[in-house]
Amino acid sequence: MSGKSFWRPLLLALLALSAVLVVDIDEARAEYGDVVINNYSDAAGMRPAIFPHWFHRVRFRCKVCHSDLGFKFKAGGNDINMVKIIDGQFCGACHNGDIAWSVENCNLCHTGKPGTPTQVHESTVQKLAPVAQQKK
Ligand code: HEC
Ligand code: HEC
Ligand code: HEC
Repeated sequence: MSGKSFWRPLLLALLALSAVLVVDIDEARAEYGDVVINNYSDAAGMRPAIFPHWFHRVRFRCKVCHSDLGFKFKAGGNDINMVKIIDGQFCGACHNGDIAWSVENCNLCHTGKPGTPTQVHESTVQKLAPVAQQKK
């Protein structure tokens, strides 16, 4: 076996592997992962709120939330509380029983694991785990 024919398959395999890694990184970025919002929830004895970003952004333009509704582009950066939500601000602009199910569904938003700090999760990874568990 010549040196050339030995290295060729190995190089091709490495190229294929790096292509997969590049795609993964791009997808994670494009998803704008789930946002865990926990400025007040834990302290108030509620599970942290989870905002599934990808789920919403396929349904609405960025402008609807980040311009018209005034959401700042920062996880946890909006000082959201229930009085404001019930008053129709932030999540409450849609979760009012009209555009989407309303505020009495506490458990649909407050689903975070207690103690999880405010952060952005990689939604693609996070979504797969619960689905796999449900299928068992
Ligand atoms: C549409 C989503 C949504 C629903 C439904 C919802 N919440 Fe919240 N809630 C939030 C978000 C977002 C925050 C801000 C989280 C933070 O910063 O900790 C919050 C904050 C809170 C807080 C802490 C701040 C405060 O206002 O005292 C409490 C307590 C709370 N929610 C209770 C509830 C209860 C009880 C219900 C059901 C009657 C409920 N929530 C329904 C999204 C929701
Ligand atoms: C339905 C409302 C909604 C839509 C539509 C939406 N966002 Fe967001 N976005 C949010 C909320 C809520 C947060 C978290 C804010 C917080 O934690 O207080 C957020 C956070 C962010 C952040 C900061 C967190 C991160 O992932 O780095 C960025 C950047 C962002 N959005 C970009 C976008 C872009 C780009 C689009 C359109 C492709 C978009 N958003 C569409 C509601 C929305
Ligand atoms: C621009 C409108 C809009 C805003 C703002 C908005 N939502 Fe939603 N949300 C929706 C719609 C529409 C649905 C789908 C409702 C349905 O399936 O009946 C939804 C669904 C959800 C779901 C369920 C996702 C799933 O997998 O089924 C969660 C959780 C949620 N929203 C949380 C939030 C939280 C937390 C906020 C505020 C930080 C928020 N939403 C702000 C429109 C909005």
